[in-house]
Amino acid sequence: MHTHDVVVVGAGLAGMRAAIAAHEAGVDVALVTKIHPVRSHSGAAQGGINAALGNETEDSTDNHTFDTVKGSDYLGDQDAIEILCGDAPGEIIQLEHWGAVFSRHETTGKIAQRPFGGAGFPRTCYAADLTGLVILHTLYTVCVKYEIPCYEEYFVTELITDDDGACCGVVAYDMVHGTIETIGAKAVVLATGGAGRVYAPSTNAHASTGDGMSLALRAGVPLKDMEFMQFHPTTLSPSGVLVTEGARGEGGILLNNQGERFMSKYAPNKLELASRDVVSRSEATEILEGRGVNGCVMLDLRHLGKEKIMERLPQIRELAMAFAGVDPIEAPIPIRPGAHYHMGGVHVDSWGAAPHMSGLFAAGECACVSVHGANRLGGNSLLEAVVFGARTGDAAARFVHDGNGNAGAAKPEHALEYEKKLRGLLERTQGTPQHEIRDPLADMMQEKVGVFRNGDDLNAARKVVDDLKEKVPTMVISDKGRTFNQSLIHAIETGFLVDLADCMVEGAIARTESRGAHSRTDFPERDDEKWMKHSLSYLEDGKVRLDYSEVTMTKFEPQVRTY
Ligand code: FUM
Repeated sequence: MHTHDVVVVGAGLAGMRAAIAAHEAGVDVALVTKIHPVRSHSGAAQGGINAALGNETEDSTDNHTFDTVKGSDYLGDQDAIEILCGDAPGEIIQLEHWGAVFSRHETTGKIAQRPFGGAGFPRTCYAADLTGLVILHTLYTVCVKYEIPCYEEYFVTELITDDDGACCGVVAYDMVHGTIETIGAKAVVLATGGAGRVYAPSTNAHASTGDGMSLALRAGVPLKDMEFMQFHPTTLSPSGVLVTEGARGEGGILLNNQGERFMSKYAPNKLELASRDVVSRSEATEILEGRGVNGCVMLDLRHLGKEKIMERLPQIRELAMAFAGVDPIEAPIPIRPGAHYHMGGVHVDSWGAAPHMSGLFAAGECACVSVHGANRLGGNSLLEAVVFGARTGDAAARFVHDGNGNAGAAKPEHALEYEKKLRGLLERTQGTPQHEIRDPLADMMQEKVGVFRNGDDLNAARKVVDDLKEKVPTMVISDKGRTFNQSLIHAIETGFLVDLADCMVEGAIARTESRGAHSRTDFPERDDEKWMKHSLSYLEDGKVRLDYSEVTMTKFEPQVRTY
């Protein structure tokens, strides 16, 4: 059995940044991750990270705060958004000092900043179209330098709580050795990323199965704002591979089958750089009304020229050629909205602490602080990961320094208990294969809980989720081995995904309004009087119970949102 002061589950940007902050605060911190850190999904983030550096034009953290509040459709907590935007410049400089190689302005030599959706100023710092990968590798080198222990290919399957209900460790499947382990901790930080694989297709890695959210939910911690799934406007069909918003930031335009630049109808001021929910709905409308091209619209980059495409968007060119058979230097790329980012997550405060469970923290996409509200702005996700990763690691360390935490309450017996469950799954020979749950779930979510929703579809979605939920305990897998058993991992992940779909559907049925990414054709207006509130999903006796909490407003009163 292993024990640490702080255990961080997940080693993407938020997890590694949390571990670095905890280490710098002087506690014994370890990372536990189901994939190698540099394979984390943070590495797929392409276009950039926002900070009001003002390197291209005048900008300010107030501008950044306002854009983020407006982008969130006024559901984001403004005190937390002020922290996000206020800490942003310092975090970028810190990353640069650690070695992150950002693209530079041609004449000033300062960090270059490109325009992104919903932003009033060019504010997105980038490393060509590989920003997430560059930052991921940078943080990894810092973790290696600090000799932060990392349990690689350990899949966390349960949280452990003590007699007072405080979190005191995790149970994990060591994939390499095929054993179940207990890892005790005074504080646990969940940083497992998003749940994009509830949908198919998705821009997310296959590993993005919302593990941390489900672990918390099952342990009695509520998830916040689960009905808000972001659809990125430019994804390749049918794979769902991301084409960065940076392509539009660099000047790419969207065309329908008439060759019309249709965004002028929907967002006459910001056009392709309206916020993501607006652009995705516009594309979906064009496609639904018959002005699409084989279920897509076209992203045209040709006018940018070969030199700019090769310098600023080299990965996009490769992806478009590999996954759509199109060279964007020569032809427009067919794209469509695709599931990309989950605004919801583990309900935490602005230090990443879960108010419902002492010793539990969460950061990054797995958490909901909430800084994104009903719709996240592009470039604010990497930012959230580093800003709130740092704060959460720091807060977990302070929690330990203050004498809290009870790592000793985690016992080898916790692993043995889980071992029994695992054997049950491995030894079962009759039942439902995991893919017969996971695949229909993801297809159904895409069809019924998509860019546009309505009561009939959502109620039909609830029936499918209920049916699949019943099948989860009967899941059967054909690989009976212990080491690197991917079927076993997929089966456990499938259980997580069904939990999260349940929360998403229940939240969406209840929210009878349209706000940000939650767009109901039967309730097309935003209803501030009734729905200016966060939803909280609890899992009780196998069923989702909803509750609500206040939105924090500081400077900005809700306005009609136009771009
Ligand atoms: O479009 C992108 O490059 C994605 C960025 C983001 O989700 O923040």
